[in-house]
Amino acid sequence: MSSSKDRPKLADKMEFPPEIEGPNIYPLSWVSKTLKMEEIWQASQREFWDPQKLSWETFDPSRYSWEERESIAYWWTILSVFDASAPPVFAAALIKTYEAHEEDPVRRCFFSVTRDEQNHEQFCGMAITKLLEHSDPLTYIPKTDIGLRLQKNTRWLYYNGSRYWTGYKNAVPKYSLAVLFSSFLMGEIAAATIFQQMAKNSTELVFQEAFKNIGRDEGRHMAICMSLMERDYPKLCLEDRAIITKQIRAGYLFLSAVLFEPPMEFWDLPKDFIANQREGEEISRAAGFGIPTYDAKKENWKSAMLNLKGVLDKYDIPFPAIPEVGISGQEVLDIDLDDIIPVF
Ligand SMILES: [Fe+2]
Ligand SMILES: [Fe+2]
Repeated sequence: MSSSKDRPKLADKMEFPPEIEGPNIYPLSWVSKTLKMEEIWQASQREFWDPQKLSWETFDPSRYSWEERESIAYWWTILSVFDASAPPVFAAALIKTYEAHEEDPVRRCFFSVTRDEQNHEQFCGMAITKLLEHSDPLTYIPKTDIGLRLQKNTRWLYYNGSRYWTGYKNAVPKYSLAVLFSSFLMGEIAAATIFQQMAKNSTELVFQEAFKNIGRDEGRHMAICMSLMERDYPKLCLEDRAIITKQIRAGYLFLSAVLFEPPMEFWDLPKDFIANQREGEEISRAAGFGIPTYDAKKENWKSAMLNLKGVLDKYDIPFPAIPEVGISGQEVLDIDLDDIIPVF
């Protein structure tokens, strides 16, 4: 390591400094061209909410049985496996917008997504802590048989989720923001859909409020991805188009775990996983917590995919086959958790 004392002083030799070797993270410029991004940023300022200020005083977990509490907490735990990965994921994307000297409103929009996702994670944590009277679902000691089986599910989901971060970290410097958006968009479309449904079907006031707020945030995140696609996709190269097709298929497999059911060929999970999860969901639904049924989930997931297909068709990006929900397209094989980008 050389100290600053050894470094030759250039300022003695030349009037202006040499070209800076990139990527230089400091943009020192505030260009604003994409008007839509400015509008979305302003909406994010207006719509900011504080998870601690929701109607928690109306929420009394002791009204529920322990089976119900553990089952509802399990749903928030599944969500956390995805939503708790979002703050670091978007923080990395935010850094990339600085390195790439993206427009000022684009940097601000990514900042707002990072902040929103932190809120979503906070809410998950508060819901779980109140339901379980314990601050994490992994070291919690279950009180019922279903609670015990759902905790085993949690451990496996958490293990699978941990593999994804290394892949994502490798992907961020490798791909352009344009490629990253398509994966983000997938998560945002899916998230916006599920939260609207959950808000409609949940009886607990504080959950209704959270679902409404989170759903609105996700809708904004979706709009951010769409306006960046509008800006960048017309000039997308062929190679990037192929990567996007593959990433969409990967996104389907990854996000199915929270929006539908985890595909067993992709997720490393025990045989009784789905049966336990269905049982927990049934208990939650009966307690007034609005998890959609298998058929409703499938219908939603399919319409979210078709939505996305509509967007990609506009830019001539081939859509992957998703036979699980009856969508035909280009067949994509060999997908592993280690090489996917999708985020929630
Ligand atoms: Fe989120
Ligand atoms: Fe999001």
